[in-house]
Amino acid sequence: MDGRIIGIDLGTSTTEASYIEDGKPRIILTAEGSGVIPSVVGIGDDGNWVVGERARNQLLVSPKKTAAEFKRKIGHDEPVTLGNEEFSAAEISGKLLSYIKSYASEALGEDIRRAVISVPAYFDEIQRQETVLAGQLAGFTVERIINEPTAAALSYGLEHMEEEEHILVYDLGGGTFDVTVLEMFDGVLEVKASNGDNELGGKDFDEKLIKWMAERFNEEHGQDPLKDVFAASRLKDEAEKCKKALSEKESFTVMLPALMEKDGKPLSLEAELTRDMFNGMTAELIKRTHRPIQTALSDAKIKASDLSRIILVGGSTRMPMVREDIREFLGREPEEAVDPELAVSQGAAIQAGIINDEILPENSIVMTDVNPYSLGVRTFNGFSNDCMSVIIRRNSTIPSVKKDTFATSADYQESVKVDVYQGESDIASHNHFLGTFTVNGVPPRKAGKEKVSIEFSYDLNGMLKVTAMLLSTGKEASIDIDMLRSKKKKDKAVNWEKSPIARRFKRSIRETEKLLKSDELEALPFEKETIDEMLHELKEAVAEGDEERALELDEELFDLMNDLLEDEDEP
Ligand SMILES: Nc1ncnc2c1ncn2[C@@H]1O[C@H](COP(=O)(O)OP(=O)(O)OP(=O)(O)O)[C@@H](O)[C@H]1O
Ligand SMILES: [Mg+2]
Repeated sequence: MDGRIIGIDLGTSTTEASYIEDGKPRIILTAEGSGVIPSVVGIGDDGNWVVGERARNQLLVSPKKTAAEFKRKIGHDEPVTLGNEEFSAAEISGKLLSYIKSYASEALGEDIRRAVISVPAYFDEIQRQETVLAGQLAGFTVERIINEPTAAALSYGLEHMEEEEHILVYDLGGGTFDVTVLEMFDGVLEVKASNGDNELGGKDFDEKLIKWMAERFNEEHGQDPLKDVFAASRLKDEAEKCKKALSEKESFTVMLPALMEKDGKPLSLEAELTRDMFNGMTAELIKRTHRPIQTALSDAKIKASDLSRIILVGGSTRMPMVREDIREFLGREPEEAVDPELAVSQGAAIQAGIINDEILPENSIVMTDVNPYSLGVRTFNGFSNDCMSVIIRRNSTIPSVKKDTFATSADYQESVKVDVYQGESDIASHNHFLGTFTVNGVPPRKAGKEKVSIEFSYDLNGMLKVTAMLLSTGKEASIDIDMLRSKKKKDKAVNWEKSPIARRFKRSIRETEKLLKSDELEALPFEKETIDEMLHELKEAVAEGDEERALELDEELFDLMNDLLEDEDEP
């Protein structure tokens, strides 16, 4: 397939697209001349999709029909609700990408069908898969998924090819924090380690302010504005305005006339906030960046004092406290060597240019990347059958293919179940479950006599394929993690409540959910997972209207939980 490939930074707050012209990345502008698109999608009054700036404007007047910050839901089962309808975060991201595709096609004068899309380095397999899906829903062929900090470093590297250095990229965006340590020499850009926090970004700083403002309002008027969608949406808007203002000046006056009303009279909020107060409120958020930084440095085997440069990426690095903290924590002045909002999409475009041979030979840059999490399988070590056996260690250079051989653990077992996990705990079930498959037809022999070789192949997009082979017969089974996921996801389990037989099972489903959420099963991770899986099957059966199966599962669940809770009560 040919045609231009664009680079897209699909951000929590904003999205940008770039392309390569004369060997250099350039931002793509909409017809209105804007290159930074709010990552906001809504349904307009006429029932049509509204995206970008228009959707952002709609957020204030029609918050129930407008979605922002949906990137945080990518890879989670939580739906995005617009009006009475529910969508997956991938579908909503797809709408945003469709808009990008259309203005890019218009700006570049050709139908753009190929894209490189960036994701936080710390996105897991499932989040990467859903990002690809979002691209496909928009009609793109997703040529590559690139890690955001790697892309930022690439856009920096293109300008500084001849230098030799250790670089730390610090990316604090709207919803995620990423830290990456790279080494650059002779036009080779090598990622040494990535770490981060997918739940930390500018949004969390806004939330501290929202809480503060809501409390002030409540103190003054005895009403909670967060209970009113319109008021809440205005608070959010004002919080971001206030936060940005405090990046420039020492104080800001929050002004929200007629935020709510009581007996027909408007209730307003006016409050003064200083930068110091804001810094105090959010100090714990800044502190949360320290552990990922430390881990990335130690994984890269580099001391902070050996860093030649710290590059700031992401709009939230405009907050003065971020610089102060880095200065204090790493003992070095950070720099804005790249445009913090555009660097990632430009880097994605450079990656696109490399794939499409559009980068000039004198700028040819070789880049290697790493996988951010350890990947492995659940095994039995003689005592516990919940051990994590790592096959690809975190921060291995990708692409990476590794295999290991395991022996059967039970006498005469006829199948081997391969459970795949991602994460750093020695206990498999404490890690992130990616999927499972079974190799059947194992010749029945004594435990340990049959051997299975398990191969993990992790590609440049950060996507995993797992193959298992029975050594005695050569029989193979393999699966892509995306297939595992889609199998898991396609279940209509999420819609069980809409089923005509839902009422019968509602109570026991809710109770089981409650139990799973409580910490009663903390000491029994294995049983907890079994219950979780059974609950899932039950919901699926309910959703499918399969009453017989649902009753069966319901009973099994009931027995299992009774047994567990009885055991626990014994002295
Ligand atoms: N001057 C400023 N001061 C403080 N925060 C700012 C400023 N400008 C932008 N921000 C914040 O930066 C965030 C957006 O940054 P950016 O566009 O880099 O994020 P993103 O790429 O959309 O998100 P992510 O990379 O986490 O997915 C928002 O939370 C925004 O409020
Ligand atoms: Mg970003």
